Amino acid sequence: MNLASGSGYRITENARLDARNTFGVRAKAPMLVDVSDAQALPELFGYAMPRAASTLVLGGGSNLLFAGDAPGVVLALETRRIALAEDRGETVIVRADAGVVWHDFVLWTLGHGLSGLENLALIPGTVGAAPIQNIGAYGMEVGERVHAVDAFDRLDGRFVRLAAEACAFAYRDSLFKHAPDRYIVTAVEFVLDRAFQPRLAYAGITDALQAMGIEGTPRASQVAEAVIRIRRRKLPDPALLGNAGSFFKNPIIACAQADALLADFPAMPVFRGAGDDSRKLSAAWLIDQCGWKGHRDGDAGVAASHALVLVNHGQATGMQLLDLAHRIAASVHARFGVAIEPEPRIVGAAW
Ligand code: EPU
Repeated sequence: MNLASGSGYRITENARLDARNTFGVRAKAPMLVDVSDAQALPELFGYAMPRAASTLVLGGGSNLLFAGDAPGVVLALETRRIALAEDRGETVIVRADAGVVWHDFVLWTLGHGLSGLENLALIPGTVGAAPIQNIGAYGMEVGERVHAVDAFDRLDGRFVRLAAEACAFAYRDSLFKHAPDRYIVTAVEFVLDRAFQPRLAYAGITDALQAMGIEGTPRASQVAEAVIRIRRRKLPDPALLGNAGSFFKNPIIACAQADALLADFPAMPVFRGAGDDSRKLSAAWLIDQCGWKGHRDGDAGVAASHALVLVNHGQATGMQLLDLAHRIAASVHARFGVAIEPEPRIVGAAW
């Protein structure tokens, strides 16, 4: 077998990953495998890449930080089919390959008169990456719309289908995050609606709709447009300024700790946590209070428009960004006694 390419995949040795991560930091991989047909995965893992070799699955490279080079194989799926899998009348099941660009998929669903993903417009990355961290924005999480996830199980060397209930979706979390070397998501099925049920409660959406001159009940495509406008205003475009969206997760803490903090900081935003006994804080607010917004150390910085977004002004290395992130987390901990943790996967170093 030709190692450099086979049916359904292409291998590049000593590959540069600079253009494959939205931070735009320098990084390399000893082996990069671009997969154009998921059916090639059993062959790849059976022969070309021994199962023991560590494999990093790359989507749009928008939720990771290369603090060093990738230690082993990097694999990227280039599969791009979208199809109607099942028509159930009021709802439909749509199936999209892992390599489909997420925002293109959201636009496809809206173009076909299907709603349910409009609040998740313009999130960077791919369909295959969406269930991993259970992408969420503007009052919606993708897990609510996942019907099933198809994956290649490296442990058993076979394809599996996981129903949504088996995926353990939670805030920026899923089964896949806890077994990073096991599943390679190959396709995702979503359950979408024909009749639109708008979800407009998240701060800013109704204002954006009003600014667009929309009165009464909006269409799903108009909600998507409102979300796109808010995102463009708040979040830097990775094509222009390297970043990976929110760098920290919003911390979830016990109610009692939130109450104690509120006594000292009455203006602190507090949201519901996973259950009644927990609360979610705004990492952006905590970081902002520590004075980091717009901060810059050389080319590593914090966005001027949003305190949660670390940015690469040009030549920052992954280690410089990681060092800045550590200093931000330490200052938040010193002031509020709250630990904040990174949202993107950090490759080549531990947090
Ligand atoms: N805030 C500040 N300073 C800032 C920005 C925000 O104090 O610079 C405060 C404000 O009080 C604001 C609150 O933080 O009301 C929340 O801000 P925002 O609505 O921007 O949401 P977020 O909690 O910072 C989360 C997600 C984003 C998602 C938005 C909208 C996480 C880690 N981040 O951000 O997701 O787009 O909500 O739903 O949950 C991502 O994951 O990469 C991402 C961008």
